[in-house]
Amino acid sequence: MLFFFSSTGNSSAIARRLSTVLGEKLFSMAEALKNSDADIPVSLAGEERLIFVFPIHAWGPALSISQFLNRWRPAGYNGQPAYAVCTCGDDCGRTDLLFGRMLREQGIPLRACFSVQMPNTYILLPGFDTDANEVVRKKLAASHPRVEEIASAILHSDFSKPLYVAGSFARLKTSLVYPLFARWWSHRVKFHATAACVGCNLCASVCPSRAIHLINKRPVWTASKCVQCLACIHRCPKRAIEYGNATAGKGRYVLNEE
Ligand SMILES: Cc1cc2nc3c(=O)[nH]c(=O)nc-3n(C[C@H](O)[C@H](O)[C@H](O)COP(=O)(O)O)c2cc1C
Repeated sequence: MLFFFSSTGNSSAIARRLSTVLGEKLFSMAEALKNSDADIPVSLAGEERLIFVFPIHAWGPALSISQFLNRWRPAGYNGQPAYAVCTCGDDCGRTDLLFGRMLREQGIPLRACFSVQMPNTYILLPGFDTDANEVVRKKLAASHPRVEEIASAILHSDFSKPLYVAGSFARLKTSLVYPLFARWWSHRVKFHATAACVGCNLCASVCPSRAIHLINKRPVWTASKCVQCLACIHRCPKRAIEYGNATAGKGRYVLNEE
């Protein structure tokens, strides 16, 4: 089973490509989270591989991943190891160690963690913006052979080639910045809809945390539920969502790869 979460399409594109090569079924963690607040039953068959594909947020797994792991109830787990494939704009910190710990707490060993550099989606702080078109093109082109290498490593259980980019100050970023993001920064919700909003409800329907509802045809964010995945701001078809003054004039990005 190939569990994936994606706000803006990068991780779902990687998950789809991997599922084609490895023949694993896709399971959308975002859809499961959106559907209800209850436990999420998952039935696993025999020896099928467990592969998790998700974006890096603040040098750790997107917060929706721990929400999913808190609520999933896997049946039929047979002791098989898991794999993680992180997509990132630059680097992942020590998400490999952190995610390994999260799975170990559930009795599941993480055999290998990989990363794929994809176009950046973080735009909320000064100095952060979407990538230039040429950078997007280069990253997407390089992601194809990378996915093939990852699939081959999994298929042949050959993990000799390093296919994970931790980056500089990796431990510090994951142990310091990620907890601050999880506890504090992700709930500082300054999203608002501009006059361009047409009340189409798409932002609410793509939110994995059910943090958005419409009042008088305008989206309102529930700060305690928001995990700052940025699906709403990037996917708005009218570009009508901003985050305080931080995102005016910045790019928006969605990958629609079928
Ligand atoms: C809230 C947030 C935090 C991010 N933090 C990082 C980061 O720490 N390191 C990095 O390289 N990319 C970071 N990114 C970029 C994403 O990891 C990257 O663009 C990813 O491929 C997006 O995947 P998706 O389209 O499946 O959501 C961040 C993006 C968001 C929205």
